[in-house]
Amino acid sequence: MELKRRPRRLRANEAIRRMVRENHIRVEDLIYPMFVMPGEKKKIEISSMPGVYNFSLDEFILELGNVVKLGIPAVLLFGIPESKDSAGTGAYHEHGIVQEAVRLAKKNFPKLYVITDVCLCEYTDHGHCGLIENEQVLNDPTLNLLAQTAISHARAGADMVAPSDMMDGRVAAIREGLDKEGFSHIPIMAYSAKVASGFYGPFREAAGSTPQFGDRRTYQMDPSNGNEAMLETALDIEEGADLIIVKPAMAYGDIIYRTKERFGVPVVAYNVSGEYAMVKAAAANGWIDEKRIVLEALVSMKRAGADLLITYHALDVANWIREEGQA
Ligand code: PBG
Repeated sequence: MELKRRPRRLRANEAIRRMVRENHIRVEDLIYPMFVMPGEKKKIEISSMPGVYNFSLDEFILELGNVVKLGIPAVLLFGIPESKDSAGTGAYHEHGIVQEAVRLAKKNFPKLYVITDVCLCEYTDHGHCGLIENEQVLNDPTLNLLAQTAISHARAGADMVAPSDMMDGRVAAIREGLDKEGFSHIPIMAYSAKVASGFYGPFREAAGSTPQFGDRRTYQMDPSNGNEAMLETALDIEEGADLIIVKPAMAYGDIIYRTKERFGVPVVAYNVSGEYAMVKAAAANGWIDEKRIVLEALVSMKRAGADLLITYHALDVANWIREEGQA
């Protein structure tokens, strides 16, 4: 054969493959999600997420030491409160669990970038992301509580807030609330294209936030809809979102791609709990090569257009990058 073009030439050995590699996972891309709870000396593994824990604050600070040592720049905090109520008051309490965790984190590791998840579902006894009346999730009355939550996080020292509730108008409400309180410099990373997904199952075990009735389909998006994801994103950007999260990530590469192409803003892929659980379970059975699968899944998100990766695999990935110089 007289082939002029032979793509295999650039695959001949590891050196040339590394040289022409188009996408990389950098330690700087990683955001590590963590769960904090009240108490002392407690580190409880989430059964469906091996290697992921609910931490009491003292254990949380110890673990942050590892995060910082590995060069991971940012964490995303979720709280498991002492008690829950119908209005989710633990979410916006000055001394709530996340607020205290933020204070401690910034005191011990001032350069660590601390992001907080802003939502009510971990704090409501009904497990929904907003106020409830007649089994309906109320939109507008919830907005002020979300803004209060974001403000309380900023007061505690959070560097960035990430609303995940999917109420209409919440980015505007949070932006306005933050600005009024002197936090116009705090960015909003919005879960804009957040789908009502089966992939959040293990998270709900971790956060104890399974809805007690109904489901989240009246506020989170239908998995079938791509154009609607663009609409949600356009609205959030208009309302003041600085970064856009696509969630879940593994089955939503098209949404990541479209978001980046269309809006050009920083795009963040959330490699969620169910994606983590599937990989861990298959790896534990010896059915897949964990490291290979994790890196392949994460680099696919980068290739699709993601700038940053929220992943429970962050510590492993940082270690792998350290060992091999690149990933
Ligand atoms: C809170 C929230 C959820 C996740 C992030 N923020 C759960 C949900 O919407 O039910 C899921 C994260 C994951 O599965 O890893 N609204």
